[in-house]
Amino acid sequence: MSNSKPKIKVGLIGTGFMGKAHAFGFTNASRVFDLPVVAELDTVADINEAEARNAARAFGFTNATTDWRDIINDPEIGIVSITAPNALHKEMSLAAIAAGKHVYCEKPLAPLAQDAREMADAAEAAGIKTQVGFNYLCNPMLQLARAMIESGELGEIRGYRGLHAEDYMADASGPFTFRHDPAGGGALADLGSHALATAEFLLGPVTEVMGDCVTVIPNRKDRSGTVRAVEVDDIGRAFLRFENGASGSIEANWIATGRKMQHDFEVFGSKGALTFSQERFNELHFYSNDDAEGRQGFRRIEASPAHPPYGQFCVAPGHQIGFNDLKAIEVAGYLSAINDDAAEPFNFRAGLRIQTLVEDIQTSSAQQAWRKVGG
Ligand SMILES: NC(=O)c1ccc[n+]([C@@H]2O[C@H](COP(=O)([O-])OP(=O)(O)OC[C@H]3O[C@@H](n4cnc5c(N)ncnc54)[C@H](O)[C@@H]3O)[C@@H](O)[C@H]2O)c1
Repeated sequence: MSNSKPKIKVGLIGTGFMGKAHAFGFTNASRVFDLPVVAELDTVADINEAEARNAARAFGFTNATTDWRDIINDPEIGIVSITAPNALHKEMSLAAIAAGKHVYCEKPLAPLAQDAREMADAAEAAGIKTQVGFNYLCNPMLQLARAMIESGELGEIRGYRGLHAEDYMADASGPFTFRHDPAGGGALADLGSHALATAEFLLGPVTEVMGDCVTVIPNRKDRSGTVRAVEVDDIGRAFLRFENGASGSIEANWIATGRKMQHDFEVFGSKGALTFSQERFNELHFYSNDDAEGRQGFRRIEASPAHPPYGQFCVAPGHQIGFNDLKAIEVAGYLSAINDDAAEPFNFRAGLRIQTLVEDIQTSSAQQAWRKVGG
């Protein structure tokens, strides 16, 4: 039986951590969801030839290349997925947009907000559908948290604490990587972008920030053995004021020894509270003032088919979905937007917003003063 759905060919740039996640996402989205379009893995590019060939074979792409422009120049390819280092996002995205292709780019969208603005403007002018990789927002339990906040179950929202802490840069002898690039690297851009996206997803716009960005490990050797000064933050923190009147904070920390994926939040309302940890991301913890005295405490809500789209992956509650499933949900939303003319889940304009917040926090930290967002 032939599949009569329209097909769209995908070109993937980069075969590392996120390259594999994008390949998973495109492969599984069409299997898990009934989408209006079927994605076909066509060409994968990586500067490392062996990696490109291995990835083509392992992920199921038809072609492999060491030149990402082969993807741009192929008129058959409809979506370009960019999972290369941050400093390359702008050049690759603008080339794909100019070639009339839809673009799915990893976060942070670009090293600088002005670059991200150029990318968002170019995409909108060309009528291109875009997506930025903020996959954690696709978690059904985050959707639940937002619904509970919006419905008033927590009452008036008073306080927020957000955190994204990992320890992959904790070893001071570890190499200087693209994440240390002075043009847009750092913990705040890398991890804080997720913490900020989650904060605004749950509570709405941040209006003012007070940042504190700290470099703890001042030098690292690059791959050639040259000692490079680290100019970006290892820890970026900010106090936040939200448009809804709440106040809060976020911390981005990539030297948090022992922490692997502490992308957590706490929301405090006048009637209840929520806590969440990405390390156990199939759970949301809810405290309600309405519980009887002597019975109060945070109750654990486990992910289940009652929390769409969990049920698309598994019919049984509590069996849990995984990191790559979030990518499949993200891809499904994006493919639907491409084919049905619906809004994308998190487009370049939304990515620009996060980059603007990152820069405002960095500027506030340098000036040691509160700063209005976008001011
Ligand atoms: N959304 C998320 O949860 C998440 C998680 C991790 C990383 N990221 C983002 O994904 C991007 C990549 O991160 P990663 O962890 O996958 O890095 P990585 O180092 O594992 O992979 C990057 C790949 O890009 C390739 N590459 C470098 N220059 C290239 C070029 N000119 N042409 C083609 N390929 C090139 C490298 O060889 C490597 O295979 C970054 O922007 C990062 O911020 C997002």
